[in-house]
Amino acid sequence: MPIRTAQRVAKVKPSATIAMSMKAAELKAAGRNIISLSMGEPDFDTPDHIQQAAIDAIREGRTRYTPVDGTPALKDAIIEKFRRDNGLEYAREQILVSSGAKQSLYNLVQAMIDPGDEVLIPAPFWVSYPDMVRLAGGAPVTLQASLEAGFKITPAQLRTAITDQTRLLVLNSPGNPTGRAYTRDELEALGEVLDRFPRVAIVSDDIYEHIWWAQEPFSTLAEVCPHLAERTIVVNGVSKAYAMTGWRIGYAAGGAEVIKQMRKIQGQSTSNPCSISQAAAEAALTDSQACVERMCKEFHKRHDWLVPALNELPGLHCSPGEGAFYVFADCSEAIEMLGLDGDQPFCEYLLEHAGVALVPGSAFGAPGHARFSFACSIENLEQAVERIGEALKPAS
Ligand SMILES: Cc1ncc(COP(=O)(O)O)c(C=O)c1O
Repeated sequence: MPIRTAQRVAKVKPSATIAMSMKAAELKAAGRNIISLSMGEPDFDTPDHIQQAAIDAIREGRTRYTPVDGTPALKDAIIEKFRRDNGLEYAREQILVSSGAKQSLYNLVQAMIDPGDEVLIPAPFWVSYPDMVRLAGGAPVTLQASLEAGFKITPAQLRTAITDQTRLLVLNSPGNPTGRAYTRDELEALGEVLDRFPRVAIVSDDIYEHIWWAQEPFSTLAEVCPHLAERTIVVNGVSKAYAMTGWRIGYAAGGAEVIKQMRKIQGQSTSNPCSISQAAAEAALTDSQACVERMCKEFHKRHDWLVPALNELPGLHCSPGEGAFYVFADCSEAIEMLGLDGDQPFCEYLLEHAGVALVPGSAFGAPGHARFSFACSIENLEQAVERIGEALKPAS
C-alpha cells in the first residue's frame, strides 16, 4: 500500500525551471548536443578571494553551529551593505540570514500568511512565489503585466487588486523572468497606493540588484518610500551577484517582530545556514566589489547582443531589460506559425529540433512566452540563436 502524503503537497508543483534544466541535463548525458538557456545561475566561478575566505574558515575551525539567524559578523556586513547600497538602516535583530534568499522568502510567507489570506503577485513572476503561498494555505492573486507595459504593474492595477484579505504584495525588481525593473517614480506611485492600505505588507525581492545596467541607479521601495519601510521586508542574497548559488546564503531585513517570527520557523526547520558559507558571504559583502562589476559588464554585453538577435527571429518579440540575466520573449506568433498548442510544446519543439533548452512562459504565469537565460557564453548564445532560427524557418 503506498504511503499517504499530505494534501498540502498535492497543491504544489515542482519547480519548472529545475525540471527544464534536468531534462536538458538528461539529454546531454544521453549524448545530445544541448545548449541550455534555462538556468538561473551565473556561469562564472565564485571569485577567488571568496573561496579563500571559506577555506580559511574551515582551517580556523569555524565549522560549528552558529546562531540560528546568522553570525554577528555576517549580520554586521549585511547592515553595512544596506547602508552603503540602499541608504537603509537596520539593527542586528532586524536581520535574518538564511540558506538562500529562497528560504528567507519561505520563512516570511510561513510567518505572515494564514489560510484565506491573499498575496498579490505581479505576473510574470518567479516560479516559487505562488507555491510558497499555497503551502501556507494562502491564495496567490496574480496581477498580469504585459510586454507592452514593460512587464510592470500600474498603480491602478494594484489599487483594484487589493481586498480585505490582502496581506502581502510581492515586488521583484529587476525581475525574474523579465529583467525589467521599476523606476524610482514608478515605485513612488505604487507607494502612494500602498499608503492607503496600512494592513498590506510588502516583500521586495532584490536578489538581482547588482546585475544592473540601466541609466538610473537601482532603487528599492523601502528607500524610495521611507514611510513604508516599517512594513517592507527586503530579501536579498549573495547567489546571483557573487556567483555563489551553491553556497546558499540569502537574507531578509525588516521589522524586528516579523524577523523574530521568521527566525522561529528557521530554528525549527534548518537552523543556521552553513557556517563556512556565512564566512564566504561576509567576505563577498565586505571586500572589493570589483568582481561584481566585472560579471555585470559581461551580462550586459550578452544582453545587448541577445535582444536584437531574438527580435530578428521569425515570430519572436522582446524588449531590453534593466538587469538580471534573462530575456522574456513573446513567442505567440512563432507558436502559431508552427501550429503548436502553447509555450510548453514550443519549448519541447526547440529542445528536440534545435537542441536548445528554454523555460516556457506559463511556468511564470505568462503563457505564450519563453525565458532565455544569458548566463552562458556569447558563443553558446550565438549558436543557440542560429539553431532556433533554423528550427523556425518556414518549410519551403
Ligand atoms: C527572483 C528570485 N528570487 C529568489 C531566488 C532565490 O535565490 P537563492 O539562490 O538565494 O535562494 C531566485 C533564484 O532563482 C530568484 O530568481
